[in-house]
Amino acid sequence: MRVGLLTGGGDVPGLNAAIRAVVKRGEGEYGHSIIGFRNGWKGVVDGASEPMTRQHIRNVLPVGGTLLGTARYHPHRADGGMDAVLATLEAERIEALICIGGDGTLHAASKVAEAGIRIVAIPKTIDNDVWGTDRSIGFDTAVTIATEAIDRIHTTAESHNRVMIVEVMGRDAGWIATTAGIAGGAELVLTPEEPFDIERIERFLKHRHRAHASFSIVVVAEGAIPAEGTAMHYETQVGKFGEIVAGAIGERLKVEIEQRTGFDTRVTVLGHVQRGGIPTPTDRILGSRFGVAAIDAVARGESNVMTALRGERVELVPLSEIAGKVKRVPEDLLAVARALA
Ligand code: F6P
Repeated sequence: MRVGLLTGGGDVPGLNAAIRAVVKRGEGEYGHSIIGFRNGWKGVVDGASEPMTRQHIRNVLPVGGTLLGTARYHPHRADGGMDAVLATLEAERIEALICIGGDGTLHAASKVAEAGIRIVAIPKTIDNDVWGTDRSIGFDTAVTIATEAIDRIHTTAESHNRVMIVEVMGRDAGWIATTAGIAGGAELVLTPEEPFDIERIERFLKHRHRAHASFSIVVVAEGAIPAEGTAMHYETQVGKFGEIVAGAIGERLKVEIEQRTGFDTRVTVLGHVQRGGIPTPTDRILGSRFGVAAIDAVARGESNVMTALRGERVELVPLSEIAGKVKRVPEDLLAVARALA
């Protein structure tokens, strides 16, 4: 059987573990030919493919990024994109396509599935906001990196008696901000889930610095916004694929906090550092589990499903159930971050 494979959207550490698992088990257990498409859906449109064999996947577990390359490209939004996808898949005699991606890539996958192609999807995004799965590949590594950064910022914040703002990724959900904020002991965590009130932040920081501390760490998700009707006006700045302009909210908060409190304030934008480098064991294991589950699902004849971590188990969820939804940080986790301010 000829099985297509692509990685789309922003890269994450742990993608190569998933690719490796698909190729190793697909070839070894089932005798499938795995056809890799370069640079996500763009490679399918352009017919940029190569057979993936055991040679390609040697020693890739500790390597970040994706062997296949990736791109932010959505065929259903491009002129002639869907026709080109279907033409390539027919020409390549692809019987099932494994798509590894976040919300954008999986939305495209559900459109391609509607056109009659068998799809098995694997969720990845450091933002951890794909609906239907407890975890997406890449999240654990991003939280590990962000936590280490906050630990390092702590010592310099304390030495200089400063307010330090750490901006982390998280466009629509504040998973990295909340979990790294808790792990790193941030005083304030600002997320898209809970629009903030700058006057409350001002009061909080003034009180803390008067009462018992000379420094503070504020972790802000890039998609955090002020609450409507509060004193700060700010519009999220996004690029053409909906990606947020890095640093915009962090810089804006720095100015607001400095002006309102008079405290020396600095901002660190972690940006793509969170997406690069060596995957944690947890992400390697998750990528491997999802890869095996996906190729097993293909072999069983499943179609239009996504692998999902539910508690301790990897299960399959219908692709149609997840498209267009965002998995937000639950209230109890946000409450822990608030409780430890
Ligand atoms: O989708 C994951 C993400 O990391 C977002 O948090 C961020 O807004 C975006 O990717 C950045 O994308 P790009 O790599 O295209 O700048």
